Amino acid sequence: MVEPYARDTATVHPPADRVSTLHPVSFDPLSTMAASYDAYASDREEAGEPDWRDDIRDDFVSRLPAGRRVLEIGAGVGFTSKWFLDQGIDIVATDLSPANIELCRAKGVPAEVRDMADLGFADRSFAGVWAASCLMHVPTAELGSVFAEVNRVLVDGGLFWAGTWGGPTSEGIWADDWYEPKRFYSIRDDDLMRSLYESHFEVLSFSSFSPMTDSDWHYQSALLRAAGE
Ligand SMILES: C[S@@+](CC[C@H](N)C(=O)[O-])C[C@H]1O[C@@H](n2cnc3c(N)ncnc32)[C@H](O)[C@@H]1O
Repeated sequence: MVEPYARDTATVHPPADRVSTLHPVSFDPLSTMAASYDAYASDREEAGEPDWRDDIRDDFVSRLPAGRRVLEIGAGVGFTSKWFLDQGIDIVATDLSPANIELCRAKGVPAEVRDMADLGFADRSFAGVWAASCLMHVPTAELGSVFAEVNRVLVDGGLFWAGTWGGPTSEGIWADDWYEPKRFYSIRDDDLMRSLYESHFEVLSFSSFSPMTDSDWHYQSALLRAAGE
């Protein structure tokens, strides 16, 4: 029997080719995800951040509406948030992993442990939201809740940049993951990802490219404008 992966009542049945581990009903996806990233926080700190998102980052900052308060979701150990801070931006980093948040704070970045589907910040309190390589950890059935939160915290005309790994659509626990616990991934093809964005935001740009040669996944980069939900 395939147990659904979901935070609440939504049911997602991952395709068999992506699933090696079937979890019991008591499986808690959020604390399992936090445990995965807690365990590898110091490795990620040591590895640093790749430079292939630098131009996207520059472009995002140049287009920010007035206020320049930015929220990073799924911020990891905080390299990008630290860069925002160094640009004079009023940044807040959030992530599910307490160990990651400690490493953000060690860089001087204001940071909070938060689930991206339940951000807890005031309505219309950010000019921009940045989400790098984290939406693939949210089941497609639950992505609407994350997008509603992003829209809620953005000012009118606020910008949302999201970059996530794409490929043939499938979701489940990644069988070949070297992290323990192995992580949940939702990989979506470009048409699906684009249409998910279109149903919640004005899509200013959507592109996909392959920054790494040793993977069959590609990266989907989208610049979006708040829909004023
Ligand atoms: C692949 S890492 C990316 C980290 C960083 N953004 C980067 O690009 O290096 C994914 C991050 O998303 C976080 N994450 C996963 N699910 C989350 C959720 N529901 N809410 C907030 N953060 C989440 C993980 O803890 C992890 O730090």
